[in-house]
Amino acid sequence: MKKIAIFAGDGIGPEIVAAARQVLDAVDQAAHLGLHCTEGLVGGAALDASDDPLPVASLQLAMAADAVILGAVGGPRWDAYPPAKRPEQGLLRLRKGLDLYANLRPAQIFPQLLDASPLRPELVRDVDILVVRELTGDIYFGQPRGLEVVDGKRRGFNTMVYDEDEIRRIAHVAFRAAQGRRKQLCSVDKANVLETTRLWREVVTEVARDYPDVQLSHMYVDNAAMQLIRAPAQFDVLLTGNMFGDILSDEASQLTGSIGMLPSASLGEGRAMYEPIHGSAPDIAGQDKANPLATILSVAMMLRHSFHAESWAQRVEAAVQRVLDQGLRTADIAAPGASVIGTKAMGAAVVNALSLKDQ
Ligand code: IPM
Ligand code: MN
Repeated sequence: MKKIAIFAGDGIGPEIVAAARQVLDAVDQAAHLGLHCTEGLVGGAALDASDDPLPVASLQLAMAADAVILGAVGGPRWDAYPPAKRPEQGLLRLRKGLDLYANLRPAQIFPQLLDASPLRPELVRDVDILVVRELTGDIYFGQPRGLEVVDGKRRGFNTMVYDEDEIRRIAHVAFRAAQGRRKQLCSVDKANVLETTRLWREVVTEVARDYPDVQLSHMYVDNAAMQLIRAPAQFDVLLTGNMFGDILSDEASQLTGSIGMLPSASLGEGRAMYEPIHGSAPDIAGQDKANPLATILSVAMMLRHSFHAESWAQRVEAAVQRVLDQGLRTADIAAPGASVIGTKAMGAAVVNALSLKDQ
């Protein structure tokens, strides 16, 4: 039996997770994976229920699971909560608690959606980028941090910090990923200004000696942000720290037309969590409007990385391609004036496109 912990979270989370769950259940039935799913609370949903964005029971559920599926967390309802009690803290503590240091965020073009990209088709046609984002360090977790009043003036402060072991282990993940792709790794830093990322560049360069077949380059983050728009097809694997990766992966998602299409895997030693890279979209929550495809593609990543069911991962991905070929679109990926379907219908369409009946 394989245990899956499911945290739907807030906003559109429950809807996209329900759609992805249908796909997962269908695959499980056909492939006899023996999955056992248990639901837990995280984020605002957990705050409402227990005043804690990651209750002990939720962390335990995640720790005991072979894989975690997460929808999204956060929303305006909890905006006034103090920093330690924001919904986002539930997600961050989950990542940290499971030591999920390697966040894989593929940004691939769906040819059917070329026109949905804000960039010209010829610029994005060949885009196939994997952002490898460090996920448990950097300014997200560095101490000291806080808000204080000094001499009557308010001050906020955070600490950007990485030690060499943290850099080394994520660098190895990125180099290995590059070996399985086009063997080009671009490491992103701000080594001209920040000591933390100067160390980053040094350590990544050291790790490169173990991977003579991978071509390593370094790029300052400001230039990387520009190059992603100017000539995005130049990138294969982009290796980033936590903060830069947060920003650049949102930017990369726009090349593909919609952030609603991009899945992610967060991997540690033997543990893993799968979530769409988008947020909780409170403005459309509960209206059956959200695009569930990023979550469904995250399920495919789970089948691949956690359950070594590569052929099933590919079948789910092919089913997504098929519904796009059929012209089915949620609002975020529809051309102006084109007809749209809802979250549930999109989930059902993917289940259909799996064509499991011919098994
Ligand atoms: C993401 C999100 C999270 C992050 C938030 C919700 C804490 O933006 O997964 O990219 O900043 O990592
Ligand atoms: Mn983000």
